[in-house]
Amino acid sequence: MTIDGLKIKWLANYKTAPEQLKKMAEVKGVISAFNVNIDAVIKITGKTIEKIINDESLDQKQILEDGKKSINSKEDAIRGIVHCFTNGIAEEWLIPNKEMFFWLNENIGYDKMQMGGQGGIVANAMAVCGVDKVYVHCASLPKDQAKLFLDLPNLVTVDEKGNLEQASQIERKSDLPLIHWIIEFNAGDTLTVDGKIFTCPKANRFIATYDPLNFQLHIDDVFAKKMALNEIENDYIILSGYQILANTLEDGTPGISRVDASKKIIEKWCDTSRKPILHLEVASTQDKTIRKYLLDNIAKNIDSVGFNERELIDILEVIDAHELARHCDEKTNSTNLFKGMLRIFSYLNCSRMQLHMFGLYVTLQKSGFKISAEQNRNGMQLAAVVAAAKAGTGSINTSDVLLWAKDREVSERGLSELQNLADLVTGLYGENNLVEDGIFTNGEIDIIAVPTIIIDKPLTLVGMGDTISSISLVGAQ
Ligand code: GLC
Repeated sequence: MTIDGLKIKWLANYKTAPEQLKKMAEVKGVISAFNVNIDAVIKITGKTIEKIINDESLDQKQILEDGKKSINSKEDAIRGIVHCFTNGIAEEWLIPNKEMFFWLNENIGYDKMQMGGQGGIVANAMAVCGVDKVYVHCASLPKDQAKLFLDLPNLVTVDEKGNLEQASQIERKSDLPLIHWIIEFNAGDTLTVDGKIFTCPKANRFIATYDPLNFQLHIDDVFAKKMALNEIENDYIILSGYQILANTLEDGTPGISRVDASKKIIEKWCDTSRKPILHLEVASTQDKTIRKYLLDNIAKNIDSVGFNERELIDILEVIDAHELARHCDEKTNSTNLFKGMLRIFSYLNCSRMQLHMFGLYVTLQKSGFKISAEQNRNGMQLAAVVAAAKAGTGSINTSDVLLWAKDREVSERGLSELQNLADLVTGLYGENNLVEDGIFTNGEIDIIAVPTIIIDKPLTLVGMGDTISSISLVGAQ
């Protein structure tokens, strides 16, 4: 089929999106836990970075060196920005001490505050998509944080007394604001450091995070107890936030002990007659010990796992698939990444996993999982439509924008990635019709692949993965 023919075919496939969205209102409950924070967003230019380097007389050689991905000095902060800017990539580095937090506050500042953390972003997305009740965990909920929740009655959490109330209207007065800088840059912008000129190849962001509570995966006891009650009708539990857990906590205990603590709590949340589907959003977990522990102790025991191309490579690195990781890193395309998915699938032995990469989403699951291949495809198409609305309009804060992109064509980039994936699948498992209908099954595994709508000049990128994963899953009805 020609490219134009395929575009028409996919436009027809995508026609289910409005209906899928309506079905989300039939979902009784979603728990979104654990990380919620304030994102202080700023668009930065190469010139501003150069100015900070000069004004603060920073060591330019040090800025270009490789080093630990955390922020302990001014040079580290700029090194992180420059690293992401020059490579057009997204990374998140942690700020262990208060001094650097204050320095960034003074020298970088921010343009606006928005909802941050996978837990918060997913909760807002689920609520605006109409899920009956969204329960969101907040390690901290001062007023500045609460007002970033959408003003919707179906989005709730616990107040100081332990009552479930609308999240945007709660103010836990003694709580700390947890702030993450989202430093965004544009493709084509240039930057000179140590006499070398760099051009940013792709619009992206660097995240600098100071967050003493989420660093410890602090879990609010009141919320934890409430969610274990039988009256909480949770059909899905979407987990995230492990990626910023520190290797060693301030009091010296290992970070992994917090993973164990969370596991006990999650077990209680699942110990109801509803048997919720558990999903983990892997996110960019810099610490390798935490990353490996998370895979072995959380991901292996749940239903579904979500990641992007970078996070997939990170997983391969800690499960001893170095060669494959290198291939994926060198050529980050659908065929290499799919090989990576197969490896992770056999390592984790979980029921479902989803990759969201530029232009294409791919789900790999065991045949017979409670979500059918077709439901998955329809959920993924809805996710692509909503993600395009978010990129194109800047936010999905009201339900009227959700379907903004529903009549747009899928990208040629996505179609060509899909074609290559289909060829690989033909070689591995035989003939298939992935290119036209996005579904392959052989009774053992299902592969669902959906080319997505690409917005050329996205107004925002942060939180895109969280939005895609959660809508793909909960929208798969
Ligand atoms: C990470 C960041 C957070 C951001 C989120 C987006 O959790 O810490 O600030 O909002 O990623 O996915």
